[in-house]
Amino acid sequence: MIPIHFAPLQGHTDDVYRRTHHQLIGGIERYYTPFVRVEAGDIRSKDRRDIDPKNNVGVPVVPQIIFKNLKEFAYLIEEIQAMGYQAIDLNMGCPFPLQAKHGRGSGILAHADIIEEVAQNIKEHPQLAFSVKMRLGWEDGEEWIPVLKILNDTPLTHITLHPRTGMQQYKGDIGYEAFARFYEECHHPLIYNGDLTTLDDLHTMEKRYPRLAALMLGRGLLARPSLAREYADGREWSHEEHLQCLRTLHQKLTDQYAHIVKGDAQLHSKLRAFWEYTEPIIGRKAYKKIMKSGNLRNYLNAIDELR
Ligand SMILES: Cc1cc2nc3c(=O)[nH]c(=O)nc-3n(C[C@H](O)[C@H](O)[C@H](O)COP(=O)(O)O)c2cc1C
Repeated sequence: MIPIHFAPLQGHTDDVYRRTHHQLIGGIERYYTPFVRVEAGDIRSKDRRDIDPKNNVGVPVVPQIIFKNLKEFAYLIEEIQAMGYQAIDLNMGCPFPLQAKHGRGSGILAHADIIEEVAQNIKEHPQLAFSVKMRLGWEDGEEWIPVLKILNDTPLTHITLHPRTGMQQYKGDIGYEAFARFYEECHHPLIYNGDLTTLDDLHTMEKRYPRLAALMLGRGLLARPSLAREYADGREWSHEEHLQCLRTLHQKLTDQYAHIVKGDAQLHSKLRAFWEYTEPIIGRKAYKKIMKSGNLRNYLNAIDELR
């Protein structure tokens, strides 16, 4: 059995979601926060709330940061360390053009010089455990080659690789060949991430790459929050159980977001995101009804009708 990590998913896996998932379902060794960044010289209050240890009690969570240079990196790690964290994940994979075009996320992979500066700084913080989540490159799927040379020489707990380029976003062929090369050349514990949605996928990966440290799942867990639990228990749940799990998790989230989010329109949009990747589980008709619900009342009716 290989540990399962819950990928960071901006707009989905906030503190409320992570906490509730952990308490209700579990099966996850580690959750990562969506990336925290510097905006107008500070961390946004929304992001501070998300990583505040008070909101993550009992949840095995690692904060993730995104940065374009040593200055942003140094500011973020100091702030996060001051909150009491000892582990920080570095985002070198985000494909959102707004970030990547400014040299953050997968955009940093083309700048080995900046990564080298950051790597030197990491060596000056032996009290912190750093990990990296990355892609093959931004535009060029071979950018990882010089980057891995630097990272191999940097103290890291692990690297997570999503073997696509940033330009590919979340679709298109996965670079399995590049992943196999990375697997051979990486000196750190390696975690595979990308398109794992079924128990068979998990079993195939653990057999194909027996030295993997973990598997990281994102959209597969949003669609089927019990996937890691099913894997740990060695039992595939039925369709009814999957639906019931989604319903129960959704209800618990609704109860909490109703206190946090102001107004029906905002609550509707927040909750609707919960179903964004669930079409394979709930079916096309129900999925369309939820996505096109238009307002909170229609939305709640659509949820009631889920079978
Ligand atoms: C809506 C959305 C938001 C994401 N936010 C983040 C993020 O904040 N940090 C990050 O490292 N990756 C982020 N990702 C990428 C995921 O963590 C993951 O690498 C990607 O979805 C591929 O894994 P999957 O196929 O299991 O979903 C995001 C992906 C999506 C679809």
